[in-house]
Amino acid sequence: MYTLLEAQNLVEKHIQTLSIPDAPPELYEPVRYILSLGGKRIRPALVILACDLFEGAVEAALIPAVAIEVFHNFTLLHDDIMDRSELRRGHPTVHLKYNENVAILSGDVMSILASRLMNQAPGVVLNLVHEVFTKTAMQVCEGQQMDMNFEGLLTVSEEEYLSMIGLKTAVLIAASLKIGAILGGSSQKDAEDLYEFGKNLGLAFQLQDDLLDTYGDQALMGKKPGTDIVDNKKTFLMIRALEMASPSQKEELTGWLTRKEFDQEEKIRSVTTIFDAIRIRELTEKRIRDFYEEALASLERLNRPGERKSELFNFASFLMNRKR
Ligand code: IPE
Ligand code: IPE
Ligand code: MG
Ligand code: MG
Ligand code: MG
Repeated sequence: MYTLLEAQNLVEKHIQTLSIPDAPPELYEPVRYILSLGGKRIRPALVILACDLFEGAVEAALIPAVAIEVFHNFTLLHDDIMDRSELRRGHPTVHLKYNENVAILSGDVMSILASRLMNQAPGVVLNLVHEVFTKTAMQVCEGQQMDMNFEGLLTVSEEEYLSMIGLKTAVLIAASLKIGAILGGSSQKDAEDLYEFGKNLGLAFQLQDDLLDTYGDQALMGKKPGTDIVDNKKTFLMIRALEMASPSQKEELTGWLTRKEFDQEEKIRSVTTIFDAIRIRELTEKRIRDFYEEALASLERLNRPGERKSELFNFASFLMNRKR
């Protein structure tokens, strides 16, 4: 049985041996750059662990797992343009290190490479796996568009927010598990149950990402804290703060959300001070725990022996305690 660490190492080794063309270097160098910067590799590790959960041949899951990671890295290149982010995995984002057009096209080629790699899934399950993958990829784009739409709104409900992060983040985590399960020869029911686990885990994961964006440590995260505040993102933190703010706090928050010219550090500081006053951090942590509990309950229900599920339980607790 694979441990999380073994699955991550297996995937990492394979990513580093991926054959990526050399020319034109302007197109492929950023691909090598982003893939060489590490990252947690959680999605491909989930493909491996899910396949292993059903005692499937892990070798057959390796290339699809790498496909998912390449796809995820493509979304990061484009996401960093959309979010005007400067730092990723502790290094300059591709659009700043190279330029925006390069980040667009290198992202495009990664998305196509991901699809080609996914096409190498074993023939008996190829259609099924490819359908899960392409459907999920479209949903991620839908979520990303909603995320950008919300930047321009002053009120977004928690329900709308959950539907947005469900699409931009949770479905890829859920699909990684489902694809791994299918490759491992699971029943359709088991694959769906695992998808449910991944969906709840993915929601907890994005809430945690939102929390880290305000309260995390740059050196650990490799991203610049406060970016969501600068971008007027309707994170769980901002949505709850707007709901719970006193009239004067609400006026101040709305002021920051509508001001065109501002000092970034001052905006981050002021908004964080309001979050602190409303105890948004504790509130978000509570909600993360709720989704986490729900995820665990879905895993509990999954019809596999406890000892085979143990690595996924470990995985969930690793995610809950992450600082990056
Ligand atoms: C970042 O994903 C993007 C989100 C969906 C929040 P990860 O936190 O998995 O990033 P890496 O791959 O480990 O760098
Ligand atoms: C990213 O959400 C989701 C995708 C990349 C699809 P975020 O924009 O919050 O991710 P980070 O914080 O930049 O990693
Ligand atoms: Mg984003
Ligand atoms: Mg971003
Ligand atoms: Mg984020």
